[in-house]
Amino acid sequence: MRNDVLIYRRFGPPLDALTLETPDLPPRPEGAIRVAMLLAPVNPSDLIPVTGAYAHRITLPEVASYEGVGRVIAAPPDHAHLLGQRILPLRSGGTWRRLHDCVPDWAVPVPDDIPDAHAARAYINPMAAAHLLAGWPVSGRRVLLSGAGSHCASSLARGALSQGAASVQGIYRSPARRTELLARGVEPVAMDDLPAIREAARRADVTFDALGGPVATAVLEAMRPGSDFVGYGLLTGEPLRPQSPPRAGYHRFHLRESQAAMSPRDWQDAFAAIWDDLRASPPPEGRRFALSDWRAALHSVGEPGAPKPLLDFT
Ligand SMILES: NC(=O)c1ccc[n+]([C@@H]2O[C@H](COP(=O)([O-])OP(=O)(O)OC[C@H]3O[C@@H](n4cnc5c(N)ncnc54)[C@H](OP(=O)(O)O)[C@@H]3O)[C@@H](O)[C@H]2O)c1
Repeated sequence: MRNDVLIYRRFGPPLDALTLETPDLPPRPEGAIRVAMLLAPVNPSDLIPVTGAYAHRITLPEVASYEGVGRVIAAPPDHAHLLGQRILPLRSGGTWRRLHDCVPDWAVPVPDDIPDAHAARAYINPMAAAHLLAGWPVSGRRVLLSGAGSHCASSLARGALSQGAASVQGIYRSPARRTELLARGVEPVAMDDLPAIREAARRADVTFDALGGPVATAVLEAMRPGSDFVGYGLLTGEPLRPQSPPRAGYHRFHLRESQAAMSPRDWQDAFAAIWDDLRASPPPEGRRFALSDWRAALHSVGEPGAPKPLLDFT
């Protein structure tokens, strides 16, 4: 039997480095469950490693991506109860493959009422937002978010407001995002309005930054002593270049590091809150692409205002 995998054998721009291959499917490893993938998103977090940004900790070749939803089609006797169950096959290697053998401890069963399109996006961004808010509590604090139209920033905004943030402001790029930000209780700040960004940064007690580059640099330079700037993404592809040492506390966040110490029990428990959040606030519609159309899916990443691309393996 053969598999379909989106794999990279060298680092580089994802459209150049990734290829769709059809290797022989090896026998299922002992103790592993076999999952037929249904749907997986194309996140910035999936593409950045392909560029070589984390080359020091990736051994090539590597199947791309970190999340998605699939259905269990084979299981060892001690996990026979999972047969037919939809799961998130996490922390077992790249998810952009039609058939995926994975470690049951880190596979998360999906409740029946959660649609595939929501389950597929239930990990990276909601979990990162939960860890960020646990690391830098926001109760009573004024929060500033950049990349405010992103899925991760949406999860952060919702979490911050429900945890008692005094206010949440969001720096957005596409004007189309403004209405949805207001509807979520986020005060919109346009990315091209630098004076307004500086003013928001002077007021902010904590910033969660997904951008890097000149906007994040301006925010960091304007923040007061005693405030916190947390960088968790580089959507601009550019580093921060402050002219002088920042007065705010400067922190970097990587989900991989903060979840390294989680036990399988804590891991499974963490998803209970994520399912509740998805029920209360489902993510916006994504746009589905057949796996064979993966190039078009990748092209749409980064297009201003574009819906989240989802690779359909069925
Ligand atoms: N450190 C971690 O562990 C961790 C974990 C999860 C996510 N992240 C990071 O979180 C960020 C958001 O990921 P996501 O999946 O939530 O994104 P997403 O839903 O795919 O949304 C991308 C957003 O970024 C905006 N954008 C893209 N390129 C931009 C640019 N050059 N300048 C300004 N805005 C730009 C888009 O703006 P428009 O409004 O114009 O469409 C859109 O709102 C990424 O940087 C990702 O790496 C980090």
